[in-house]
Formats: sequence, structure tokens, C-alpha cells
Amino acid sequence: MLGGALVAIGAGLTGCSANPLTVESTGTAPAAAGHTPATTLVVVTDPAASSIPATTAAASTTTEGVVFPFGNFGEPIDVGPLEEVLADIDAAVKLYVPNARAWLVHYPPEHVDAAKGVYQEVLHEGLDLGILALYQKCTHLGCRVPECAQSGQFECPCHGSKYTGYGEKLPEGPAPRGLDLIPVRLAGGHVVLDSRLIVQGPPIGTDVTGWEPLGPGCVNIPNGP
Ligand code: FES
Repeated sequence: MLGGALVAIGAGLTGCSANPLTVESTGTAPAAAGHTPATTLVVVTDPAASSIPATTAAASTTTEGVVFPFGNFGEPIDVGPLEEVLADIDAAVKLYVPNARAWLVHYPPEHVDAAKGVYQEVLHEGLDLGILALYQKCTHLGCRVPECAQSGQFECPCHGSKYTGYGEKLPEGPAPRGLDLIPVRLAGGHVVLDSRLIVQGPPIGTDVTGWEPLGPGCVNIPNGP
């Protein structure tokens, strides 16, 4: 069980205005062996979010790496049956879910145990399923961060912050941590993104997977803002 220093990130929960937000966890997260200590992980919760209902609505997937699921931001969002979602992610490499304002990535199984030493417990079910949901807002000033297919990274066009293909912060750019995350769960055999919750991303220096870029980057802002 990991906890973290408390930092409210309720601004990212624009769909939850009907329910006041409370901080769920406190404490200091331990370091995973061989990795930078996680010191500022946090969960901000909607107190009404006690369970996730299973839904039967079918998500529809395009062939362009975008899925249009059932549910809206600030709610549990059903993105479809697990096997189909994993296949869609693998086909797209990074699958964008506009309703959740998030990218889905297939987390490498060989790194799941190490990741559980870094990421909040609320994210562990998603890790076991092989899925991370990365909230699209840059942790610097909130620009939407697109993928860069040629590097395999997420690269912010505003001030040049770069993140690995799993959302962990790279040295380039002023962002203070990795991309924030939305918990992923399984309900009724369907993958559900619980966008009532946003979990603060891992601290600078986290590199669970030993990331290497696939090629040259898309954004080059040498001196930052
Ligand atoms: S908003 Fe992304 S680097 Fe500034």
C-alpha cells in the first residue's frame, strides 16, 4: 500500500463538480528497488465514488487509434471487453479515449511488479490488466500532450516537456512529474476507466521500464519557457 504527500489536483476533475472532492490517502511512498523514491503520489477522490457498476454498453472503436466509449468524463467510462481493448491498444500503440481525456497504453508485463512499488495501489488493478490510462493534461501548465509516433513518447508542444511512452517524466522540459493517471478496473468483463479519480503522476526520475526513445522527437524547445 502506497500513500503520498497531499496535493489537490481537483482542477482536473471538471466533471465532478456536483460532489466535493476529498483527499483519500496520506503518507510517504517507499522506493522500489533500483528506482527513484516516489514521494508525492496522491489520490483525490469523489466521496460518492464507492463502487464501479458493470455496464453492458458496447464501445465503438475506429481504426485510427481512438475509441468512443460509454460514459462521460467524471464518471466510470466503459471502453469495452478486456481482450478487445488490449487488441485495440496494441493496434494503435497508444489508444486515445476522448471521453476520459486519456491515453491508454499497454504496460509491459515484465515491469508490473516494479511498477507496483512506485504507483499508487488504486492503479494496481490496471497494471495487472496490462493497462495504464494517462490523463492528457501536461503536469506543467495543463496543455494537452499528444503522442509523438516517431519517438514513442508524449511530447508537450507548449514548453517542451517530454514523457516516456508510459507517461514517466523525461529530463526535457519543466513539468514537475509524470503524467497523471486514471484508475483502470475490470467490471463485468469490461475495462472501466474511473475518471472520478485522478492520481498524481510519478516523480521526476522515475523510470520503471528503462525507457529508450524509438527515434527522434517531435518537439524541440532547447531552453524551455
Ligand atoms: S504546459 Fe506542457 S511543458 Fe508547459
